[in-house]
Amino acid sequence: MVTPIISPSMLSSNFADLSNEGQRMIDNGADWLHMDVMDGHFVPNITIGAPVIKSFKATRPHAFLDCHLMVSEPEKWVDDFADAGADMFTFHIEASIDNTGLLIEKIKKAGMKVGIAIKPKTPVEWVLPYADKIDMVLVMTVEPGFGGQSLIESCLLKCKTLREKYPNLNIEVDGGILVSNIDQCAEAGANVIVSGTVIFKSPEPAKVISTFKESVAK
Ligand code: DX5
Ligand code: ZN
Repeated sequence: MVTPIISPSMLSSNFADLSNEGQRMIDNGADWLHMDVMDGHFVPNITIGAPVIKSFKATRPHAFLDCHLMVSEPEKWVDDFADAGADMFTFHIEASIDNTGLLIEKIKKAGMKVGIAIKPKTPVEWVLPYADKIDMVLVMTVEPGFGGQSLIESCLLKCKTLREKYPNLNIEVDGGILVSNIDQCAEAGANVIVSGTVIFKSPEPAKVISTFKESVAK
């Protein structure tokens, strides 16, 4: 059985106050903190890199940093992220198609958990050969790059396929998750829930987080 894990996306936080925003999410029941790393090349947006992760971890050493690397050549950043204190290093298979196996080993050797992300148009079959060698598959439910988009429902079929084959795998969904579609995500088999806009905009983030958690636990 898998555990429900809620990972608020810090992309929707006030970046000028990142450390306190992260702590606020933990105080409201967050299990992990989702850190969206974008390089302006793999996706049309730029966010943060290893130096910010390092400063964050120095102030919040107990936070589990779920780092989602939307970057070309993810292998270049493994050592920097390990040194920065990243707990999970999730890379996109579209950016690592020629060296996926080696990259998994490199991340493990560096002491981090390994996740593989797939974009909405990438078939789930791409990730299947690696699913039993990694800690998590991230099924993107929007095109990566920006928060606040609408969930693409067809992506949830990929969660179903994965859950049928791997009952114990962490399956993360990311993009457009709302209180109104969390049940659909949970029924499809997702147990790690990323949500930015909805949690950060809510006057009661603890309520949103517990609603998400209860839906996955059902
Ligand atoms: C999008 C990011 C997501 C995003 C989710 O590329 O990977 O983590 O911030 O935000 P919402 O919940 O607003 O769709
Ligand atoms: Zn993300």
